Amino acid sequence: LGFAFMISTFVAKAASATTVGFAIFIIGFLTQLVTTFGFPYSNTYEAYYRTIWSFFPPNVFAQALNILGKATATPEDKGISWNQRKTCQSFETDCIITVDDIYIWLISTFFLWFILAIYFDNIIPNVNGVRKSVFYFLTPSYWTGKGGKMREGGLCSCFGSNRPADDASPTDEDVLTEENLVKEQAAGNEVDPGVAVQIRGLRKTYPGSFNMGCCKCRTTKPFHSVKGLWVNLEKDQLFCLLGPNGAGKTTTISCLTGITPITGGDALIYGHSVRSTAGMSNIRRMIGVCPQFDILWDALTAKEHMELFASIKGLPSSTIKSVAEQSLAQVKLSQAANVRAGSYSGGMKRRLSVAIALIGDPKLVFLDEPVETCQIFISSLVTHKMPHVNLTIYILHRQLAWIQ
Ligand SMILES: Nc1ncnc2c1ncn2[C@@H]1O[C@H](COP(=O)(O)OP(=O)(O)O)[C@@H](O)[C@H]1O
Ligand SMILES: [Mg+2]
Repeated sequence: LGFAFMISTFVAKAASATTVGFAIFIIGFLTQLVTTFGFPYSNTYEAYYRTIWSFFPPNVFAQALNILGKATATPEDKGISWNQRKTCQSFETDCIITVDDIYIWLISTFFLWFILAIYFDNIIPNVNGVRKSVFYFLTPSYWTGKGGKMREGGLCSCFGSNRPADDASPTDEDVLTEENLVKEQAAGNEVDPGVAVQIRGLRKTYPGSFNMGCCKCRTTKPFHSVKGLWVNLEKDQLFCLLGPNGAGKTTTISCLTGITPITGGDALIYGHSVRSTAGMSNIRRMIGVCPQFDILWDALTAKEHMELFASIKGLPSSTIKSVAEQSLAQVKLSQAANVRAGSYSGGMKRRLSVAIALIGDPKLVFLDEPVETCQIFISSLVTHKMPHVNLTIYILHRQLAWIQ
């Protein structure tokens, strides 16, 4: 099990898991066959062969079966009782390993592989290319839970330090006034009680190089996606972020929701900083997110999606059913509640994603291009059907007319 966990940290996609699993099965089958024929558990082989061979759990397991098989080969054989597990059996000409040794070895290697699995899981980049440093466990902040820096890029990538972009200076007067106000407040480390989110010079630079294998690198220029954003987002408001494709709207949301680490500046959400892991875990409890691309399972119905996410959010089980029904009614999906999401139209999927984002009365909701939903959603807000939503960050780049 520990070995399987460890291997799974290297497998990013479910589709490749089948191939990797089958490959390991074949390798295990062959090495078990070799073990059954006597390699390397006999005096003819050096001890280090046995040690290396035994790190692959199926091999030691095969040796245990081998010993047990020999002990029960004929009807007269008595087998091996629990008390005899430490003693060498009479049929063994060279007693190299006992069943007890195998038990101890398998239990110890379970912990070894399991710890390695946790370690690799932390240092190997996730789907967003985010990972912890190679020596993350040596930093006190990891153990106290008060921080810990996330990094980006592969383990053996080759980017040096990126020069931060110069902050883009706004040309609009009102934007400049807002920026100066936030800068002033940030300098005094004060947050207006009416402000839900204070973005303080948020910068995001995607590293400018990528690694090809471990030895060859090709360097491209770093890309500055968000260049110093200063803005206060008030409570009880619908805030819309408008901009053309590639303006950095999704990047801003990803930074605020902790999907990707920020490269400069800071943002406070209800007083919690997105820079610290402790702050981020508090933020996650109070936000709802509808990502730009739907993350839904084709085989589940809308109702099942709602029930699943409601239980993940920790809603009491007695309320889950009614919350699911209510939310689906709000996004006009009641009729399709028992239909699998795989057969939904694009708009229906977006509406379901919005309903999921609203589960558990989040204080703050991020909606990244909900397009089809915006009319329903805005009218719901305006008619106070969702009074719990304090602030919505709403992103749109096309249907400007809808929000006018
Ligand atoms: N993982 C990434 N690596 C490098 N560049 C990226 C990455 N994600 C986004 N970008 C770039 O950052 C810019 C902003 O992207 P995005 O925030 O998705 O824009 P949008 O405003 O359309 O949501 C785009 O030019 C995009 O190419
Ligand atoms: Mg986007």
